[in-house]
Amino acid sequence: MDYRRSIIITGGAGFIGSHVVRMFVNSYPDYRIINVDKLTYAGNLANLKDIEDCPNYIFIKADICDFEKMVEIFSQYEVDGVIHLAAETHVDRSIRDPFTFARTNVLGTLSLLQAARHTWELRPEKYEGKRFYHISTDEVYGALELDTPQGEPPYGTSFFTETTKYDPHSPYSASKAASDHFVRSFHDTYGMPTVVTNCSNNYGPYQFPEKLIPLFINNIRKGKPLPVYGRGENVRDWLYVEDHARAIDLIFHKGETAQTYNIGGFNEWKNIDLIKVIIATVDRILGNPEGHSLGLITFVADRAGHDLRYAIDSSKLKEELGWEPSLQFEEGIEKTVRWYLENQEWMDNVTSGEYQKYYEEMYK
Ligand code: NAD
Ligand code: TYD
Repeated sequence: MDYRRSIIITGGAGFIGSHVVRMFVNSYPDYRIINVDKLTYAGNLANLKDIEDCPNYIFIKADICDFEKMVEIFSQYEVDGVIHLAAETHVDRSIRDPFTFARTNVLGTLSLLQAARHTWELRPEKYEGKRFYHISTDEVYGALELDTPQGEPPYGTSFFTETTKYDPHSPYSASKAASDHFVRSFHDTYGMPTVVTNCSNNYGPYQFPEKLIPLFINNIRKGKPLPVYGRGENVRDWLYVEDHARAIDLIFHKGETAQTYNIGGFNEWKNIDLIKVIIATVDRILGNPEGHSLGLITFVADRAGHDLRYAIDSSKLKEELGWEPSLQFEEGIEKTVRWYLENQEWMDNVTSGEYQKYYEEMYK
């Protein structure tokens, strides 16, 4: 079949990537979707079982740092679009092993950019009809203050906008910031049609259970301690992953070249309040008495360099492209908790082996 477009999605076997791949494979049968993923501990093809046999879907196990391989894929499939999600993503891992983050997030992104440039500049139409879409995070902007009366959200008077100066604090956010700069430099220097988005914390099915929400759901189910960093006062802005995937679809097709768009949920939670909601939801679904698992909360040493508050102003995306989160948090968290409790086999598979060793080492 002659496909209308040929798009690489990197990191498609990970959490957000798998939702994006699924959405594109199902919504655009006339696009060829090429999932390029190294399958690190965070990548799992079980996340894509339902679409793996679709005729417009191809999986290629490859490292984005492998420049020759990237060029080969671009040429072989006449790629005209990239949605780049592959990355090392866990802040705690970045504190223990910053080098891996620089390699994948910075050099890997550069390798992909160079492969795109190498292939596209050889074509007669060059960059016409092409798009390199880089997915980034709100963490590059640094941390906001808690400077309102602390009853109800929002917990601060300032928000991250597209013009907020970069001020990353963790090796993870520093590596993402560096990669964002490289992407923008390829537009400014070579004229590559790039676009960058910075999104807040995502939650939903298929998130690797080293991140707060799936880790805590799993621990509550098993009656294991819930390690809350510091006093649990840090604030994050949570967005349901399918809403992020919808924004990515919209921006890939309609976003303006060389622009940045912030994506967020207008949904701030202090960690400790969010954790209590998760406990109440899991206990209710499992039929436990109210408050049954509250005793699992265990305050532990704070994360080094722990950013106090993230809060995104996504009004540009709303005004220019009409995107808004579709799901209320109560509905999203209910769906999410139910999914993890109903997909125990998935949880057990991804938490066996390497992850289990890391987790035991971390909290011994
Ligand atoms: P994830 O850790 O769940 O998945 C990352 C995927 O990338 C995995 O499938 C992994 O195998 C793959 N990968 C890692 N290194 C690779 C390499 N060298 N070559 C090829 N593939 C490789 O990540 P996620 O949470 O889905 O995040 C996806 C993207 O979205 C990242 O770029 C992240 O910075 C960004 N982001 C995430 C969030 C969030 O809350 N999760 C929020 C904003 C932005
Ligand atoms: P996380 O899911 O790691 O995302 P990020 O660090 O990218 O925001 O953490 C979300 C918040 O939860 C963050 O403030 C750190 C905190 N946290 C804990 O208190 N305990 C934990 O075990 C984890 C993983 C996170």
